[in-house]
Amino acid sequence: MSLSKNDVLRSQKGAALRGTIYVPGDKSISHRSLIFGSLAIGSSQISGLLESADVLATKDALIALGVEIIKTQNGDWQVNGVGLNGMVSPLKPLDLGNSGTGVRLLMGVVAGQDITATFTGDASLSTRPMARITDPLSTMGASISTRDGQLPVTIKGTSTPLAHQHRSEVASAQVKSAILLSGLNGRGTTQITEPYASRDHTESMLRYFGANVQQTFVDNGSHIISLQGEAVLHGRQINVPRDPSSAAFAIVAALITPDSDVMIPGISINPLRTGLLDTLVEMGGSIERVNERNEGGEVIADLRVKSSQLYGIEVPASRAASMIDEYPILSVAAAAASGKTDMHGVAELRVKETDRIKVMADGLRQCGVDVAYSDDSIQVNGQVTGNKIMGGVTLSAQHDHRIGMSFLTLGLITEHPITVSGCTTIETSFPNFAANMTQLGASIIVDAI
Ligand code: S3P
Repeated sequence: MSLSKNDVLRSQKGAALRGTIYVPGDKSISHRSLIFGSLAIGSSQISGLLESADVLATKDALIALGVEIIKTQNGDWQVNGVGLNGMVSPLKPLDLGNSGTGVRLLMGVVAGQDITATFTGDASLSTRPMARITDPLSTMGASISTRDGQLPVTIKGTSTPLAHQHRSEVASAQVKSAILLSGLNGRGTTQITEPYASRDHTESMLRYFGANVQQTFVDNGSHIISLQGEAVLHGRQINVPRDPSSAAFAIVAALITPDSDVMIPGISINPLRTGLLDTLVEMGGSIERVNERNEGGEVIADLRVKSSQLYGIEVPASRAASMIDEYPILSVAAAAASGKTDMHGVAELRVKETDRIKVMADGLRQCGVDVAYSDDSIQVNGQVTGNKIMGGVTLSAQHDHRIGMSFLTLGLITEHPITVSGCTTIETSFPNFAANMTQLGASIIVDAI
């Protein structure tokens, strides 16, 4: 079931969720496997790549930069790397669509080579902050022009970037990764300090491809990453684990739908991505990690989730980086919980695909949930046991995939159905979301308007 421009989806209360759901490949690792494969010498084979709009935009941009990327017969991908100085200036602007990860990581790639490229994106990406990336890349030697710190951005890179010691204000894997990608060609050591550890797929994968990357986790929560410049990367085999951020919707749906028992196999449980799992377990959720194993440098597990009575808790700011994409769906779990859930340190949500604090709060309120918020916090007053959430509204996902899937998950327990418009971007991270959830027993249908 592929979504067309005019589709709206509707979800409603129905059966218990039962069975197994296979969520798609991890988005962060998919982007990185294409990018690092392109910068390596020799070919890389990728299995389990997330074939979503965001990742395919990165793939097309890399092809425009001169890399050969082939989908092999069995659905796997082969990237014939060109090395760290082998890319060419693209003939046209690189359009990364909705993808913040794609555009920001590729800016780092272009900044570290003797090539020039212009980056564009869709309406949402064009309003997102880029100075946090372009400022350090300029310090490293790239010549950059932007439209007031937003797209379009043009970068004239240099193959001799300066090694840079960067202290980031925000815990952002995208900022960190752009600087590290530029630093691969640097002379000397590039070092980044982030206030809390953000996902470290770039660090792990760079090491796996042959670069010298060190990580220090400091007692105050901060994270220091050092990369030795003049690196050489070698092609590798990558098995992309399944995405915990996509699994999040099935996990919460199973927890809040009575009598559910769902298996979600092969999910990355990288400790810098498990903030939501930890939080839901603290809230009383029954989530069992079964068959933990290590595959291609990432720890994965099968998750067994059973419906549970959830209780509101305090979610500390120190956890935000490890669950930054999961606050919309956590807000849904909090609405179904009894008592107040207080989420702190979430200011970064304001600069995601939408202002996720405001859009979630507005939608929940329309459904009858008591929500308060500030610039960097959200408080959801959940249902006292026995109380009901009314729903019965049409909400706009405002073209934000995670908002769309969160509202649809909420509709599985509201008294009246929830209709969600503006959700075609669900395909940027979770193609076939509705069909996969329906196979578990969820009632989510497409309504063409
Ligand atoms: C991502 C990092 C996060 C996250 C995004 C994917 C990545 O963004 O929100 O969906 O793959 O590096 P920030 O690093 O800006 O927090």
